[in-house]
Amino acid sequence: MKDTTIACIFDLDGVLVDTAVYHYQAWKKLANSMGFDFSHAQNEQLKGVNRMRSLDMILNWGGITKTDAEKEELATLKNTWYVDMINKMSATEVLPGSADLLQALKDHGVKIALGSASKNSGLILERTNLTHFFDAIVDGNSVTTSKPDPEVFLKGAEMLDTAPQNCIVFEDAAAGVQAAIAAGMAVVGVGEAENLPGTDLIIKDLSGVTVAQLIALIKSKTEKRTA
Ligand code: BG6
Ligand code: MG
Repeated sequence: MKDTTIACIFDLDGVLVDTAVYHYQAWKKLANSMGFDFSHAQNEQLKGVNRMRSLDMILNWGGITKTDAEKEELATLKNTWYVDMINKMSATEVLPGSADLLQALKDHGVKIALGSASKNSGLILERTNLTHFFDAIVDGNSVTTSKPDPEVFLKGAEMLDTAPQNCIVFEDAAAGVQAAIAAGMAVVGVGEAENLPGTDLIIKDLSGVTVAQLIALIKSKTEKRTA
């Protein structure tokens, strides 16, 4: 029987590195500057969503209307604050288990892609010393649609030259989980089960995840599909 081929596609913010907290701080500062606030539960809905779409959602919560030019200015302001924070990042901010899992995958010859909505992924990967693990990088600079659209992950599979059903996506955002399912991929949710419906497996972080476990996951999904 043919060996099971797997490839892994990682979301960045909130899966490999703890930048979700910086996004929250910067958006909160922007909302506060316009005289309103939003909750942690609302922030959960912003995860995985691109910059302009996040801004639209926040303005909507505040009941504020802005022109396209004003929105560009607000998004740029938020990004300036955010980039100030990520510029200070180091490898110590890589989330538990991330570097070990990436290394184990590499050691086993498993192809690895990034599948992120962020336009700042290059800077973050560089600051945290993760760039060298990736065979392909798909981020907010190379896609036209936002998660939950599957574009980012399908492009990742294409760049890794593998079929979507061989891919395992690691995601901390509901929009990202939906995107992975729409792409026909297996999905590991990183976080709380109640925020991430539809995943094949839920973990609190990447520590303890083994390559054998991931191969078994793809194998069992393939068997179910062909049964
Ligand atoms: C995603 C984050 O990874 O990237 C979202 O989860 C963020 O919160 C999006 O809005 C876009 O990021 P950036 O860095 O391009 O503003
Ligand atoms: Mg994320």
